[in-house]
Amino acid sequence: MNAPEPLSRWAQPGSSRVPFWAYTDPGLYQRELERIFYGPHWCYVGLEVEIPRTGDYKLSWVGERQVIMVRDRVAPRDRGTDHGIRVVENRCAHRGVRFCQQPHGNARSFVCPYHQWTYKLDGDLAGLPFKDGVKAVAEDGSPCVQGGMPADFDMKAHGLTKLRVEVLHGLVFATFSEAAEPLRDYLGPDVMPWLDRIFQGRQLALLGYNRQRIPGNWKLMMENIKDPYHPGLLHTWFVTFGLWRADQKSRMVMDKHGRHAVMISRRNDGGENKVVTEGVTSFKANMVLNDDRLLDVVPEPWWKVADPANPGTEIMPTVTMITLFPSVIVQQQVNSLSTRHIVPRGEGGFDFVWTHFGFADDTPEMTRRRLRQANLFGPAGFVSADDGEVIEFSQDGFRQWGEEGQTICELGGTGTGGTEHMVTETLIRSMYAYWRKVMDA
Ligand SMILES: [Fe+2]
Repeated sequence: MNAPEPLSRWAQPGSSRVPFWAYTDPGLYQRELERIFYGPHWCYVGLEVEIPRTGDYKLSWVGERQVIMVRDRVAPRDRGTDHGIRVVENRCAHRGVRFCQQPHGNARSFVCPYHQWTYKLDGDLAGLPFKDGVKAVAEDGSPCVQGGMPADFDMKAHGLTKLRVEVLHGLVFATFSEAAEPLRDYLGPDVMPWLDRIFQGRQLALLGYNRQRIPGNWKLMMENIKDPYHPGLLHTWFVTFGLWRADQKSRMVMDKHGRHAVMISRRNDGGENKVVTEGVTSFKANMVLNDDRLLDVVPEPWWKVADPANPGTEIMPTVTMITLFPSVIVQQQVNSLSTRHIVPRGEGGFDFVWTHFGFADDTPEMTRRRLRQANLFGPAGFVSADDGEVIEFSQDGFRQWGEEGQTICELGGTGTGGTEHMVTETLIRSMYAYWRKVMDA
C-alpha cells in the first residue's frame, strides 16, 4: 500500500481532532525523535541527588539514546559557576559499543570493554591502547614501531558525544541541540512558579523507583496528565476517597507555546456531591479503606503560595501535575512527590520511570507517609494502574483503524489557552497545536 506522505495528511485546521496515525506511524515516530527528542528541546535525565559524590553516575535516556549522567570533578576556580553534572552518550567513539552496563555506579573514568578506550568523566577521550603502535625489532635488527593510529589522530575530536546540561533546583535536563534556548526560558514564566513551589531552596531526598513498560505511544502519557476530564471518571479510588472530583477548584496553566502545562487543583472532602457523582459509575459511596494510613494527608507549609495569577492572594493546591514536554511529568499528589520519565520505545510503546522523592529535612514520619502514599501511583498504584491500562487500550483502538480514524478532543471547545476549571481538554489541544508546528503537520 502506498501511504501518503504522513505529514500532509492532517488536512483539517486546529488540533481538536488527532488522527490515529499520529500514534501508529513508524516514519512519523522517527521524525518525532529527530525534531522533538533530539531537536531543540530540553529532556529530563534525572535528579542531582541521585549522584551525590564525584564519579557517581546513572544511566538515563534522551529519546531512544542512552546517556550517562555523571558528577565530574570541578576545578576550584569553577566552583559556583559549574554544577559539575555531565551528560554523555553511552556509545564508544571507537566502535559504537554501549560500554556502560551498570544502571548506577561510581567511576573514576569510563572504559569500553571491547578495546579499552578510556574516557574522562566529562567524556573526553583520555587514552586508547596501542595508539602509538607496538615497539618491535625489524628484520635487520633495528628498532621499529608496528601499527598504531595515524600520526594526525586527534584525541580531542574523538570523545563521547557531550550533551548540553542545565540543572534547575536539582532537576537535570540535557539536550543534543545547540539551538535550544536556556532552560528557564524553555520552561517559561507561567510554568516556573510551580516548579519553584516544589523545589526552590530545598535539598531533595531520594526515596525509590518504579519502572514499567506501557504498550502505547509516548504522547498518550503526556495527554493523560494534561487531561482533567478522566480522573473523576476512570479512577474509582480518586473519586471515592475524595482526591479528585469534577467540581473541585482547579486551574489549567500552560507555557506560551502550549507544550508544557500545569494542572493545579485542591482536593474536596470526599463523599457524595449529588450533582457531580450521580451517574459516575466509578463512585462507590460505601467503599472504605481497611488501612486508612494511605490517606493520612498532612498539609505542608510549602503548599501555600502567592497566586501567580492573582497578585495579593494565596492559594494552597493539593495537586499539581506538571508536564514538561517532551520527557517528564513532575507530580505532587498530596504528600506524594515524584518525577515520571517518559522514554519512547518505538511508536507503540514507552518506558515509564518513576522516581519518588522527599526533602532532606523531612521527619521519618513524613518520609513514611510519602512512601505509603506512593502506593497510589506507579505501575501497580491504586490510581495509576488504571492509566497504564487505558493507554494500552487506546493504542489497541488506534491500531485497528485505517487512515480515517481520529480522536475527539473538544471538551471545553476547540481552542487553546488556560482555564479556571477542569471540564476541558484544552491542554491536550494546546500540545498538539505545538506538535503540528514542530512536525510541519
Ligand atoms: Fe489518570
